[in-house]
Amino acid sequence: MADPTFNMDHQWLPFTPNRSFKKDPRIFVAADGMHFTTHDGRQILDGISSLWCVGAGHNRKPINEAIKRQLDTLDYATAFQASNDQAFQAAEMIAAMAPGDLNRVLFCNSGSEAADTSMKVALAYHRARGEGHRNVFIGREKGYHGVGFGGMSVGGIPANRKVFGSALLPRVDHLRFIHDPVKHAFINGVEPEWAEDLAAELENRILPLHDPSNIAAVIVEPVAGSAGWYLPPKGYLKRLREICDRHGILLIFDEVITGFGRLGCNFGADYYGVVPDMLTFAKCVTNGVIPLGGVVCTDRIYGAMMDANANSPDYAVEFFHGYTYSGHPVACAAAIATLELFKQENLFERAGQMGAVLGDALHGGLKDLPNVVGIRSLGLAGAVELAPVAGAPGKRAYDIFMTCFHNGVLVRPAGENIVVCPPYIVEKEHVDRMVDVVGDAICKHA
Ligand SMILES: Cc1ncc(COP(=O)(O)O)c(C=O)c1O
Repeated sequence: MADPTFNMDHQWLPFTPNRSFKKDPRIFVAADGMHFTTHDGRQILDGISSLWCVGAGHNRKPINEAIKRQLDTLDYATAFQASNDQAFQAAEMIAAMAPGDLNRVLFCNSGSEAADTSMKVALAYHRARGEGHRNVFIGREKGYHGVGFGGMSVGGIPANRKVFGSALLPRVDHLRFIHDPVKHAFINGVEPEWAEDLAAELENRILPLHDPSNIAAVIVEPVAGSAGWYLPPKGYLKRLREICDRHGILLIFDEVITGFGRLGCNFGADYYGVVPDMLTFAKCVTNGVIPLGGVVCTDRIYGAMMDANANSPDYAVEFFHGYTYSGHPVACAAAIATLELFKQENLFERAGQMGAVLGDALHGGLKDLPNVVGIRSLGLAGAVELAPVAGAPGKRAYDIFMTCFHNGVLVRPAGENIVVCPPYIVEKEHVDRMVDVVGDAICKHA
């Protein structure tokens, strides 16, 4: 691989082994459609929508043009005590897409900020209703809600928590993980059925321990994405909804990955037919082009926060929270163009259709290869789980990922899994290529 002509000493790469990266770097200098161009002129198939972001594929002109127009019209405007036309329009579009009475959008810039924002809304909402004692959060083992202190605390990926010890929030508990590696190792586009009611531990164990009256919210990803695409048991999210309702607890869906089409519909909430009290989003909302995230809250939450201030003076701020770039006009212009493009090209429907193609190809092509101990697919995403190398957790998936990259396909290692989640514009030939390249790499590292 040709050495890049620039100095790599100064960027500390996130969630990346920096020392080995700099010896064998993966540097993109251009992208179009399904492919990247690397610094040394190679074409790489984007098998992961650039971390679940680029649903519509790369270099989409309607999005690029909207951004350029916006830059020449209103480049930036303060978000506090003022706003901009793009932010209102984007919020209206997102509210229209969200189910139920999820109609009030608080913008931020990332999934991590969205998770922390949702937790702060939960605390503020309960306090506004005179229940400030509700301050316990329930996450789930292997959940990922970003890297802020709130999201990290309710998250359940051990490596992300390990070194932050006492800085993690107190008064957090976790539901158990949702995977049965024996009965549900291979799952293609269906909901795993459990004999046991996995949500029952919330009501029978976790709530009594803390007392239900102290619980602010339960936060889960509808499908656990970052851990390696683990699917919820049939009826599980509905059960969480019922239990939360019974005890006045807010239910938050972290839809940073499942939002905007990955499951073939608007949100995971739609796929599973469960409306949470808050839904977080980021990633696909701007096709990854400009950072934007947010929390969609119910009318009830927004209303309670306003009502609590009914007797406050006009100038009283109802919620002391926000970011300098909340509702940035350029990001919101990108979101408007992205959501329009998704609709014009029926890309969510396409994601659902190509998801079936991907699921069949993964199961058909990889199931019998050495060390493959599971394959889970749903929507336009799938994970191939591998037996670990003894004494070297994560090594096999990392080696496979590197080999795939050298062979022209970007996949994602997640623990012992290789995850693929291509853009919604993916064609069958791309799916076949991904599966071939992953299959060869699995055999190479057997
Ligand atoms: C479910 C979920 N929540 C939150 C985040 C954090 O998003 P960000 O990296 O934009 O902060 C991610 C990122 O992958 C995610 O998958």
